[in-house]
Amino acid sequence: MANKLWDKGYSEDARIDAFTVGNDRELDLALAPYDILGTIAHITMLRSVGLLQEEDLHLLVPELRSLYREAIDGGFVIEPDVEDVHSQVELELTRRLGDIGKKVHTGRSRNDQVLLDLNLYARARIEKTVLKAASLFRTLQDASEKYKDVLIPGYTHLQVAMPSSFGLWFGAYAESLASDLGVMKAAWDFVNRNPLGSAAGYGSSAPLDREMTTRLLGFDTLDYNSVYAQMTRGKMERIVSFAYSCIAETVGKLACDGCLFSSQNFGFLHLPDALTTGSSIMPHKKNPDVFELVRAHCNRILAVPGSVRLVTGNLPSGYFRDLQVLKEVFFPIFDVMDDCLDIVGYAVRGMEVNTCVMEDPRYKLSFSVEEVNRLVESGVPFRDAYRQVAASIQDGSFEFHGKLEHTHEGSIGNLCNDRVAARLEKVLEGFGFDKVRSAIAGLAGE
Ligand code: ARG
Repeated sequence: MANKLWDKGYSEDARIDAFTVGNDRELDLALAPYDILGTIAHITMLRSVGLLQEEDLHLLVPELRSLYREAIDGGFVIEPDVEDVHSQVELELTRRLGDIGKKVHTGRSRNDQVLLDLNLYARARIEKTVLKAASLFRTLQDASEKYKDVLIPGYTHLQVAMPSSFGLWFGAYAESLASDLGVMKAAWDFVNRNPLGSAAGYGSSAPLDREMTTRLLGFDTLDYNSVYAQMTRGKMERIVSFAYSCIAETVGKLACDGCLFSSQNFGFLHLPDALTTGSSIMPHKKNPDVFELVRAHCNRILAVPGSVRLVTGNLPSGYFRDLQVLKEVFFPIFDVMDDCLDIVGYAVRGMEVNTCVMEDPRYKLSFSVEEVNRLVESGVPFRDAYRQVAASIQDGSFEFHGKLEHTHEGSIGNLCNDRVAARLEKVLEGFGFDKVRSAIAGLAGE
């Protein structure tokens, strides 16, 4: 007989049990620390509204805190006959404290419990990813500053277009990450709201103090409407995975450029041997597998918001078991994204830059617009200058006579990296990680 919170005295079908639980036991392990913290907040509130005795609270909180430590240290298990993390926590408390353990579910449902766990989990994972993305941002800006005077050709249609620089190229990806983190901040705001108290999706007759649990858990505010709070399941996963897909798009494109620019035909970047992998048949090969895998992993993250959408498709309002399947679609994005951010930072710090790219005559024509502008400055109308330069290209006599001088904001000679860095700092401050950390430490008794 399985340990079911909803046990009503009849025994359930083992096959149905196995199918409905699926892989939830493994996936729920990630939620365990948050389920426990949520329970501490919930029972602290139950005590304050008179639904729990002071002595019970004094017994429950230390037990929950030690369970929390076990969950953080990897010692928390969901037993084979226990349905999910929510059931395991209650069972564990009941084993350790007897009937007192059975009191923690007052005014709560697994529906708002799982919503809460997911918000807390996503919030913690977002913080981790943001710090990694900010570190990659700094790596990229450092490279941009270091190589700001090293020119490379810029391309349109993958045809040589105009002079660019490593300063612009590295800096572009840094600025892209800064924008992505702005989107991530919106996702953070979404998960930084408290669904607890919405119960099964329709509130409770218990006089819950939802503002109190909001404060205790370090949330900014609550998802007020109980029906709406339940509707955030799926919506949250879509919004958060969309924010991850923005970072994935930036990092994947960087990896793509890394593959291209390190090929012999470009030769702009050199990956030291240690950063490459070999071939089993071609003795000379040194391949950029790191960038290729990053590209593939990032592309998979791009698909996640769509996959979430397909699971939640056209569900009516209210809870459905379909929502459980979201975990297996949603959870992998965090480790994958974090690994990609780490390894790309490592590769960027390790790669070598070719400082003589533009000495190659094949890039000479990238200066055609410079020459047109030089003529314009000397008084020739633009279209005439364009034609004059086109004719010199046609007859093979084209030479660029001037000096490359780009001064406007965001150009080769004026990268504005400091202003982009200031923008990022402002976004980072907006997250308010400290407030969240101290709320969690308070609940955990640390
Ligand atoms: N494992 C379930 C889920 O992820 C927990 C909520 C169960 N609620 C219910 N009404 N059966 O959705």
